[in-house]
Amino acid sequence: MYKKVLVAIDGSEPSNNALDHAVEIATKFKAKLTMIAVIQRVMIPIFPDEGFGGVPLSAAKDMAQYQDKMRLVYQNVLEEAQAKIKEEHPDLEVEAILKEGRPSAIITDYAENDGVDLIVMGSRGIGGYTGWILGSTSRKVVDSCTRPILIVK
Ligand SMILES: Nc1ncnc2c1ncn2[C@@H]1O[C@H](COP(=O)(O)OP(=O)(O)OP(=O)(O)O)[C@@H](O)[C@H]1O
Ligand SMILES: [Mg+2]
Repeated sequence: MYKKVLVAIDGSEPSNNALDHAVEIATKFKAKLTMIAVIQRVMIPIFPDEGFGGVPLSAAKDMAQYQDKMRLVYQNVLEEAQAKIKEEHPDLEVEAILKEGRPSAIITDYAENDGVDLIVMGSRGIGGYTGWILGSTSRKVVDSCTRPILIVK
C-alpha cells in the first residue's frame, strides 16, 4: 500500500516523533523513505516613513544570515537522521531533500508530483505555540494536499 513515504522535518519534537512513525511504516511496507526539510524564506516588513534605505538593507542581511544558519541546521538534522536510520535499518531506502521556500507549498508540491503514498508530519513545529492544535504548515498541507497524511503529536 505504501511504496513512497514522505516525512517533513523541521527539527522539532513532534517532527522527530513523525520521523519515528515514518521509519516504522516505511520499514514494515518496504517503502522508500524521503525526508524533506524546507528553509523558510523570511519576510521583512518595510516601513516607508522610516525610509527605504537603512532598515530593509540591514534586515535583508539578517535574513540572509538566518537562512544560511537554517541551511546548516537542517543539513545537520537530515544527515544525523540518515546516519541513524542507516545504522538501525540498513535495508531501508532513505533519501534526504533540502529545499528553500514556503514549507507547506514545497511539501504539498513534492507529495503531489512525486507520487507520495503517505505524508507524515508533526502536529506542531518549531514555531511558538499559538493555542492551535495544528501549526500553520500542517494545517495548510492537510487543506491543500490530496495525498494521505498522518499527523503525529
Ligand atoms: N520548514 C519545514 N520543513 C519541513 N517540514 C516542516 C517545516 N515546518 C514545519 N514542518 C512540518 O510541519 C509540522 C508542523 O509544523 P508547523 O510549522 O505547522 O507548526 P508550528 O511551527 O508550531 O507553527 P507555525 O509554523 O504556524 O508557527 C512539523 O512537525 C513538521 O513535520
Ligand atoms: Mg512552523
